[in-house]
Amino acid sequence: MCLSNCAIVIMGASGDLTRRKLMPALNQLYRKGKIDDSNVVIGCGRTNFADQSFRERFDVDESFAKLLFYHQHIQGLKHFIQSRCNKLSRIIVFLSQPPSAYGPTTRELVEEGLSKETSIVIEKPFGYDLQSAREINRVIGSGFSEKQIFRIDHYLAKEAVQNLMVFRFANSVFFPVWNSHYIESIQINALESEGVVERGAYFDRSGTIRDMVQNHLLQLLSLLTMEAPVTLDADDIRRQKINLLRSITVTGCNRFQYRGYREENAVARDSMTETFTELSLQINNFRWAGIPIFIRTGKALHRRGTEIGLRFRQLPGILYNETGAVKPNQIIFKIQPSEGIIIDLSAKTPGAKGLISGTHMNFCYRDSFADAVPEAYQLLLYDVLKGDHTLFVSAEETECAWSLIQDHLDKGELGMYDKGSKPPGKFDVDWIDFDAYAGICG
Ligand code: BG6
Repeated sequence: MCLSNCAIVIMGASGDLTRRKLMPALNQLYRKGKIDDSNVVIGCGRTNFADQSFRERFDVDESFAKLLFYHQHIQGLKHFIQSRCNKLSRIIVFLSQPPSAYGPTTRELVEEGLSKETSIVIEKPFGYDLQSAREINRVIGSGFSEKQIFRIDHYLAKEAVQNLMVFRFANSVFFPVWNSHYIESIQINALESEGVVERGAYFDRSGTIRDMVQNHLLQLLSLLTMEAPVTLDADDIRRQKINLLRSITVTGCNRFQYRGYREENAVARDSMTETFTELSLQINNFRWAGIPIFIRTGKALHRRGTEIGLRFRQLPGILYNETGAVKPNQIIFKIQPSEGIIIDLSAKTPGAKGLISGTHMNFCYRDSFADAVPEAYQLLLYDVLKGDHTLFVSAEETECAWSLIQDHLDKGELGMYDKGSKPPGKFDVDWIDFDAYAGICG
C-alpha cells in the first residue's frame, strides 16, 4: 500500500530524534514505495531554516529531500501546508518535543485550525507520574479525539514482541497450558550494558521504573498474560491489556544505582535515581492468581539482552525424577538483540541407560525468515500513516500503568552495584539463568 497526499509535520524538527530516527525511517518508506512524491514532510519549530538548509541537515536520498520543507512557528502552518500539498488528504503532526510542550503546542495547533483530518503522534515519557500523565491526556484530549492520537511505545513494534500474541493465540499446543496450573513463574529480564551515556539530564529525573517499567515492560507482560481479544482490532486488544493491567499488584520493588552514576554528565552528585530495579508482581485473576512474576531491568550491566522466561511446574518425584534432578520445562522468548523462542526439554542421553540431559528446541528468526527484521520506527510511522492503532498505547493504558507503580516511585533504599556486573537483587528468587541462552540464535 502506497500513501499519497499526506502532510507529515514534525514539531521540534531540529532535535536529535528527527535526525536519528524519523527522517531515516521516512526515507526508507519512500525508497520502498510506501510513500510517494505527493506527500510532504514539513519541519516546524522556533529556529528559522530555509528549506534548503533544513534538507541539508539529513542524510537522505536527493529525491526524498525534495519533499522536505520548513516552516517557522505554528502560526500560518495550515496555509503553508496547503500551498505545498495540492490534494491534501491527511495531516500527521509528530510532537518531537518534551512533554511540557505538548499542552501549548496542541492549543496552538487547534487555534491554527489543525484539528480535523489531523493525527497527533507522541512519544514517551507520557508524564512523570499518574497526575502528570492525566494532565497530558486531558490537554491533548481537549483538542483531539483518542482516535486521532498515536502514543508510541517502540517495544510494541519489535518483531519478537508482536510475535507474543501469535505464539499464544495461533498455536493450539500452548494455549491450554498458559495458566497457573502449568506455569510456576514468569520472569522478565531487560538488561542494558550501556550506562546513561549522554542522556543524564533526562534519565536523572526519570529512573528505571519510569523509563522502562511503566511502559515497555508492562506492555510485554500484558501481551504475554492478557486474555485473548475478541478480534485483532486495536480497541479489542487494548481492552484486554487494560483488564490485565487492572488485575496487577506490585508486591515488592527494590532499587539500585551503579557506582559512578553520580559522576555521569548532567547527573546530580547526590542523585538517588535508580539505574536498576527489580519488581515482584501478582496478577489477581483466575488465570494467574498465585503465580509469582518478576521483572528486572537496568543499565550498565554485564550484557545487553531482553528475555522473557516462563518456568513450568516440576514433575512429581517419581520415575525419572525420583531424585528431583529433572529440570522443569521453560520457554524463553528472546526479544533482543537476537530474536527467537527456546523451549527447554529433557531427553535421554544417548547410550547411557537412565541418564537424562537438558536440551533445547530453538526457533531462531534469523534461520526461519530471510527478510531482515524491519526497523521499529519505519513500522510505526507507516502504521500512523495508515491510521492503524494496534501498535500504539491508549490513554487508559498509560494511566493504568502509572497507577500500578505510583507508590513505588523514588521510594525505598538504594542498593549499589558495579558497572558491568551481573544484575544485583534482593528477592529470594531462583532466577532463570538467562545468560545461558545468550549464544542461541545470536
Ligand atoms: C527507551 C529508554 O525508551 O528505551 C532508554 O528511554 C532505553 O533508556 C531504551 O535505553 C531501550 O530500548 P531498546 O530498544 O534499546 O531496548
